[in-house]
Order: sequence, then structure tokens, then C-alpha cells
Amino acid sequence: MRELALNILDICENSVKAGASLVRVSVAAADDLLTIEIADDGCGMDAEFLKRVTDPFTTTRTTRKVGMGIPLFKMAAEMAGGSFSVTSAKGVGTTVRATFVLSHIDRAPLGDLADTVVTLIGGECPSEFRFEVSVEGKGFVFDTRELKAELGGVPVSEPEVLVFVRDMIKENMIDIGGETL
Ligand SMILES: Nc1ncnc2c1ncn2[C@@H]1O[C@H](COP(=O)(O)OP(=O)(O)O)[C@@H](O)[C@H]1O
Ligand SMILES: [Mg+2]
Repeated sequence: MRELALNILDICENSVKAGASLVRVSVAAADDLLTIEIADDGCGMDAEFLKRVTDPFTTTRTTRKVGMGIPLFKMAAEMAGGSFSVTSAKGVGTTVRATFVLSHIDRAPLGDLADTVVTLIGGECPSEFRFEVSVEGKGFVFDTRELKAELGGVPVSEPEVLVFVRDMIKENMIDIGGETL
């Protein structure tokens, strides 16, 4: 089964392509429900395009005619007894929200969230990211703006920095009991 961390990576890449300056990712598990939300302040979509965006044949990419990031995330949520929504406004931004019944037999595992974060921030893209993760109310925050302030000029994409970030997120996941999600 595909890991949800890879769906999160896909949706965040859409936000980066949309020119977002900030991408907020929230992963929250509580009471047998997993809620994943990705909200950006990118270019947004108009109402007509938004209606078609969960259809695999809706894409503005030119390299292939099928766009799968949103349809696959929607399918993963619906297979796991959850819900899915995309809200967007042109010039304002986009929010993608998916829920999953944690104990559902067809729920995909969260997988390696640290890998998703490191892939995103290692790409030297201009977007900032804020990840908020919580399990039954216990959580942590990782924010690239705070990291950059601490690094004082050292690029986030430096291999040592990426290793540090990966380890920190993995440790935080263990601390909050999220490593088995
Ligand atoms: N966060 C977003 N902001 C603006 N447009 C978006 C966003 N996410 C998706 N889109 C639009 O919806 C299309 C479909 O997205 P997706 O299903 O991920 O497929 P793909 O990225 O392969 O085109 C994208 O090509 C883009 O035009
Ligand atoms: Mg995409």
C-alpha cells in the first residue's frame, strides 16, 4: 500500500508549483481519526477548475496528460472510510483536507514523514514549510523559517542540515507516539 507521506509530498509539490510562499501541513491523529491538511497561499484555482480537480484528467502540467496527485490522495481517504475536500480561491490559496479512519483495514500507513520533509526542503524551493504533527493532543512543530533563523546563513539544503532535520523529526515522531501511524 502507498504511504500517506508520499501523498503529502505530492500535494506539497502542487503548492510549490502554485508559487506558495508558505505551505502549512497538519497531521493530527485522535479518536481513531487521522486528519491531514495542506494549506498554501499560492495562486489558487478558479471555481470552474476546482470542480474538475479531483478528476485524473485535470492537469496543467505539460509533460503528461494525467494529473494524479489529488485523485490518488482522495482515493486513499475514501478507501479508509474518510472524507476529502479541496477549497481554493484564485489569488488567495488552496487547502486540501483528507481524513482517514485510523483502524480501517484499507488505511495506508503514514510512512516516512521525515523523508517527505527532507525531500521538500532539500529541493531549494522558495516556499517555506510549517509542519504540525499531533497524536492524541501531544505534538510538535517544524518550521523552516525557525530553522533558517537558527542556521544563520547556512543553507537548509546542506547534507548535514538535512540529516539533522531527518533525525529530529524521527525522534519527535517517536516522542509523541506517531512513528507507528
Ligand atoms: N495547491 C494548488 N494550487 C494551485 N493549483 C493547484 C494546486 N494543486 C493542484 N493544482 C492544479 O490542479 C492540477 C492537478 O493536480 P494533481 O492532481 O496533483 O496533478 P498534477 O500535479 O500532476 O497536474 C495541477 O496541474 C494544478 O493545475
Ligand atoms: Mg501534482
